[in-house]
Amino acid sequence: MLFRIRSLRLRSNHSAAGVYNLEVLTIQDDSFFTMSFFPWSEKSVFDFFVKMFLTYLIPTSATGGFIFLSIIGFVIYYIIKLFHNQQSNALEQVSRHSAVAKFDVLGENNLLDRLASRARPNQRLILVFGINNSFTTMDQNVHKNFTRSALSVILRMSPQNWLTFFTISETALNEALRLDSASQDSVPLAVTVRFVVFAAMTYQFFDVNLGGSNFADVVEATNAINNLWEQSKNIETIGPELRNEQDHLEASLRRLLPNHFPCSSEQHPLNTIIPAYETMWRVVLLTYVSAGFRDMDLETTQQFQEVIRNIPECFNSEPNCNIMDTAINFAKEGLRLYPPTKRIHRAVPNGQDGWSNVKADVEWCHRERRIWGPDAEQFRPSRFRNNTEHMDEAYMPFGAGKHKCPTSAKFSYHAIIILVVALAKRLGTRETGSKVVYNDPRCDGDAKGLLPSGRKDMDGWVLEMNGVEWLGRAM
Ligand code: HEM
Repeated sequence: MLFRIRSLRLRSNHSAAGVYNLEVLTIQDDSFFTMSFFPWSEKSVFDFFVKMFLTYLIPTSATGGFIFLSIIGFVIYYIIKLFHNQQSNALEQVSRHSAVAKFDVLGENNLLDRLASRARPNQRLILVFGINNSFTTMDQNVHKNFTRSALSVILRMSPQNWLTFFTISETALNEALRLDSASQDSVPLAVTVRFVVFAAMTYQFFDVNLGGSNFADVVEATNAINNLWEQSKNIETIGPELRNEQDHLEASLRRLLPNHFPCSSEQHPLNTIIPAYETMWRVVLLTYVSAGFRDMDLETTQQFQEVIRNIPECFNSEPNCNIMDTAINFAKEGLRLYPPTKRIHRAVPNGQDGWSNVKADVEWCHRERRIWGPDAEQFRPSRFRNNTEHMDEAYMPFGAGKHKCPTSAKFSYHAIIILVVALAKRLGTRETGSKVVYNDPRCDGDAKGLLPSGRKDMDGWVLEMNGVEWLGRAM
């Protein structure tokens, strides 16, 4: 019997991320021979050829087919070896970034060494915001008090608290729509999301329920935080406008949280607002827009609709609500593609009585194809169902090691998903007929590519609402 191949096809396996099916169609029986393998693994390719040899080649006398297959085998083997080497390089780079985040670059160290290594590159945050918390202090007691007080809020969250968090977010969103949207055709996304996230976090961490009458102050405070953050990146060029922004911020915070002033630098509300609100608003906005409006595979689109239908009620029926893991994967995927802390900076002694800055490039680790596969830049939350050890090591939106964010176990994932669902229920998604206009030719022309994620990049984004009830002011 002559063994001949009609075609070879390499296709991604739909049920397992990063796994490929190699399909062989033979002429004589017209059947597919399919073998799944992880393309970066030499062993799986070797297994494939052994199986092929035993199944097809031993029973045939076709040396032609054997030679042909062997050549293909060697070519694929060497391509995969090349991939494998590249992947090893990527893993080495991830280990270097992770060592920075974990403070391993300091060698043997204690808490004071780690606080100093983190505080030095963050001095700019003291200069512009005056904050005195774990990120800027070299004092162990300030650090311990701050993390203790954050933990006291995070750990007390019950299902009922999460339902209330949803109601607060929903109410804030209605207020924002009433005040900032001239019509159903033009909801300014960034201003709206900033207000909602600020109100939700203020409720959670300060027990203050902001309403429509606070809208102007929140807009002023959040704008000032944005401007000051941008200015902090170029300390050398800081001018008199810095003082102006600081005054605006301080004045609006005093009106929003009167019971928290006057206060010591350790008690200042910005110590909490910066890590809680500033980290949250962009990832909430980008996750909502990615899941609700960008081109995705059918499975992700359907999963998002299911998440919208079941959150927040699902919090009440945990652990029996099986949509919770899917919902959390949406938050994880948003944090993967758009990590709020793109880079983690450390100061290390340079051996000459001075310090050098090193950084962990979190965003690079999260988007690297050799770790996450060819669709690394696509929004696909189900990848977290089959995450590999390498992906786990590369994933560090909350930092890594001893000083990993205390909200990384649950709190931040839950908060993100609740805020995203509150937006999707109220403002709609592509499925309801709503639309995002980016006023940016690159984003408007390409519904698949990555979105820009800088603090000011979303200022021009406008949502045109459809398929959901309009309760804003008269059109
Ligand atoms: C999406 C939301 C959040 C992200 C992406 C995030 C990110 C991070 C990152 C990257 C670190 C590590 C910093 C470093 O290694 O130098 C960190 C630490 C920390 N975060 Fe968060 N964070 C988030 C939300 C919050 C919230 C809501 C709080 C509450 C106040 C918070 C409080 C803290 C504290 C206290 C630390 C310091 C922990 C320590 O030094 O032991 N974070 N966060």
